[in-house]
Amino acid sequence: MKITAHRGFSSLAPENTLAAMKEAINYGCEWIEIDVQLSADHVPMVIHDKTVNRCSNGKGEVRNLSKIELKQLDAGSWFSDDFNGETIPTLEEVLLLTSEAKIALNIELKIHAGDCIHLLCEKVAEMINKLNIEPELMLFSSFDQSALLTIKQHLPHVRRGQLWETIPNNHADVLSELDAFSVHCDYRYLTEEKAKAVKHLGYQLYCYTPNQPELVEELWTWGVDMMITDTPHRYLASK
Ligand code: G3P
Ligand code: MG
Repeated sequence: MKITAHRGFSSLAPENTLAAMKEAINYGCEWIEIDVQLSADHVPMVIHDKTVNRCSNGKGEVRNLSKIELKQLDAGSWFSDDFNGETIPTLEEVLLLTSEAKIALNIELKIHAGDCIHLLCEKVAEMINKLNIEPELMLFSSFDQSALLTIKQHLPHVRRGQLWETIPNNHADVLSELDAFSVHCDYRYLTEEKAKAVKHLGYQLYCYTPNQPELVEELWTWGVDMMITDTPHRYLASK
């Protein structure tokens, strides 16, 4: 049974923070998923929403705030006082933590309307090259196919996973063009037929975000390889 800690390990600590990722490492997860977008000064930052409003004490769009402005925000107190002073991590901080711990990182290229895909991919690739991260410790995912095609040009040796809510009927063509490694879909809309079609083509099949293991028992039997979940501890407890 393979498990990815979604947004770090977002049920036990504020999402996409180093505190959450340390929980994933402590629990022995093999994978962590994070969301990456650029600050105003083009630094890859690890945060899910277009704005900082929900997950910090600040306000405004991530792309309008500099790295220094983002780092000054408290990204922990909204979750619990135990995490006062937790900050929005840079991709660099996350890569240093996960590569040291030898835990694999699913880097979701988070594209909001109007974002410059080329710049995001260039800056992400630059950081990975600078830190010389082993390709086996990474996977790129995105709902945006052009982001995956762009990152493929920069780092062709790093695996790519296509995110879909529902797997479309033309999945074989898209996955072939991408030279994809995996398909990541919403577990609620997966059918046995689609699961088997994807597995038949030889791709890994991952599901997000089932937080109750008992809801997805049947999906493992369809060939699903990994659950991307906010609650890895519920799965690992039953291992
Ligand atoms: O990797 C699956 C998941 O992260 C996709 O949805 O919105 O949580 O980034 P979201
Ligand atoms: Mg994500």
